[in-house]
Formats: sequence, C-alpha cells, structure tokens
Amino acid sequence: MQPYWSDVFGNASSLHSFGRDAAAALDDAHTVVGCAIGARASEIVFTGCGTEADNLALRGVAFAARRANGSSPGHIITTPVEHHAVEATAHQLHTQFGFDLTLLQVDGCGRVDPDDVRRAIRRDTVIVSVMLANNEIGTLQPVREIGAICRERGVPFHTDAVQAPAYLPVHVDELNVDLLALSAHKFYGPKGVGVLYIREGTPYMPAITGGGHERGRRPGTVNVAGAVGAAAAIKYSARERDAQAARLTRLRDRLIQGVLASVPDVRLSGHPTDRLPNHASFVFNHVDGESLLMALDVEGIAVSTGSACTSGNPEPSPVLVAMGIPREWALGGLRITLGYHTTEEEIDAVLDVLPRCVARVRAASLEF
Ligand SMILES: Cc1ncc(COP(=O)(O)O)c(C=O)c1O
Repeated sequence: MQPYWSDVFGNASSLHSFGRDAAAALDDAHTVVGCAIGARASEIVFTGCGTEADNLALRGVAFAARRANGSSPGHIITTPVEHHAVEATAHQLHTQFGFDLTLLQVDGCGRVDPDDVRRAIRRDTVIVSVMLANNEIGTLQPVREIGAICRERGVPFHTDAVQAPAYLPVHVDELNVDLLALSAHKFYGPKGVGVLYIREGTPYMPAITGGGHERGRRPGTVNVAGAVGAAAAIKYSARERDAQAARLTRLRDRLIQGVLASVPDVRLSGHPTDRLPNHASFVFNHVDGESLLMALDVEGIAVSTGSACTSGNPEPSPVLVAMGIPREWALGGLRITLGYHTTEEEIDAVLDVLPRCVARVRAASLEF
C-alpha cells in the first residue's frame, strides 16, 4: 500500500499521467479481487467498508425494483440473525420506504431452512439476503442451496460474506449469489475498505449519487491504497486459507471441548460443526457477558459479547433470542475468535483463566 500514499498519489479518476498510474493499480486490484472470488474485474466495486457494501446491495436492488415496478415497492426476505449492516438496512427499507419484509425463522443453531426460503418467495419479492457465516455464533448458512432456489425463481440473491474469506472458499458461481459483500480487515487487509460484488445484469440503482466512479455504482473518490491492500490481502489469505482452516478447526474444537468440560452451566451457541473454523461461541447461565469480557481483558484475553448493554439495562442479543435461547442464558453470550497467529499455548491460557473468571463474575452477579 505504501507507494499509493506517497509516490503514486494521483486520483484514479484524473486523466493525467499521475491519475492514470493510480488507475492502473486500481484496475489490478479489481482483477485480483475478482479472480479470488470467481468474478470479473468489472463486477467488483470497492466501498468504504463491509457495512457500505451491504447497504448498497440491498438498497441498490430494492430501489431498482421500485423504479421498474412503479408504485408498488415489493418484498424483501432476510433472516433475524444478520449483522446490523443488513438488518438495519432491511428494517429501514420496510419502515421508511414501504417494502414488505419477511424474516425467516432459524433453528436452535441459527440456521435457515432453504425450504422456508422457497415458501417465502412471492411474485413481488425483490431480493433475498442471507449471510454466509454468522459473526456472533459462527454458524454457516446453506447459501448455495438458497441461491439455487432464488435463481430458479428469478430473484436476486445477496450474501454478506464478510466473515468468510480468511477461512472458507468464496466463489460467487458456486454459491449461486448475485451480490456479495466483503470487508478487507476480516481477511488481514486494511480497515475501512469493503468490496461489493454485483453480478452483471443484476438490477441495481446506486443508493449513493455523484460521479461515475466504480462505473457509477459507488460514486466517490476511491481509496486506491486501500483497494491495493485489499487485493494483496485476499491473495495472502487465499494462499494460507486451507492450511489455517484445518489448524484452527483443531484449536477451536479443543477450546470448545475444554470450556464445556471445565465450566458449569455453559452451552455452545451456534452449530457444532457447520461453523467458521476460527469461531467458538458460548452462552453462560447467570453471567453478565460484558463483565466476563472485562474480566478476560484484564487477563490479556480479547473476546466479544453477543449483547449490547446500555447503562445497566442489558438486552440479550437478538441473534441469540431468535435461536430460542432463554434470556438468562442469552445475557451471557461470549465469542472467542482465533486467527492465523493464534497458538496452542494461547488456547491453553484461555482454558486456564476462563473457568476462574466465570466463577468470579457469576458469584458477583448472584450477589445482586
Ligand atoms: C457479518 C458482518 N457483516 C458486516 C460487517 C460490517 O463490516 P465493516 O465493519 O467493514 O463495516 C461485519 C463486521 O464485523 C460482519 O461481521
């Protein structure tokens, strides 16, 4: 990325030679990212983040359908376990723009049944959006099967694949998707760079208006260094992915088994096997997830919770609630994610520290 902040500083949309040098690097980045996911360079749009890619995908297709259909806005299908980037966008299209919204049911592992998608599709369905891998519970969705159903019914299909590329193969034809969102920092690239894949021929109206950047699909000056970084990172993670996925699956399972064996009143959340290789997530009964996060942070262990706690009024994560997990368990959601640099010793350290932290936090919460 370094030269694109200094020597090759041109704006990729300028016509002079400085601009053309930057544009050549940006063209390469489109090609590399496209190749990595089985797409053409012309189908790749660089965005400011994964959230923006999800927003552009849903709004772009919904607005194009509305333009084509005249007054009737149409119908959107998604799930109750999506990242906020999709969930809030679908919700806004519903409440502010009049689109009908179906939230598919999920099972106890957070999975959608493709037959439910088949049953939910209507004549006026404009888009189906189902994520590839869940950020909170790690569960993988049957995206390929859902995509095949959408294709058969002629409905554009979007997947939020942000969590996937470092650990799973992502190929747009194998997944049967028309739109797909990525975020570079999730595959060891820079923060603040997203990718939106739009299959050629997909109805799309840009929700950001302005100039003709990214073929008019995402107006605004492109972050050339960021795009170059995203391209380098996707090549790096494609090289590392399979070996790392196998290694991390072993470490993940060791972590899961160790936690389940050493901590009372804990359950795995999400699917036991069809889950991200680097992802372990749990719910602890009568444990405040944020207090547990803080206790682990003091020990140098960085984890995330599922719940957003606002000033003493903890709300369980909607994802865990949609899976039917009772409130007193859902308030104790915790996810521990591994990465390319995670070692066996670090897993042992977590297994050593976690039971004591849970006991301490549980004892404190029972005092109230
Ligand atoms: C599944 C999923 N979708 C979307 C996003 C949003 O990506 P970004 O932070 O680049 O906006 C994230 C971020 O964690 C995510 O995990």
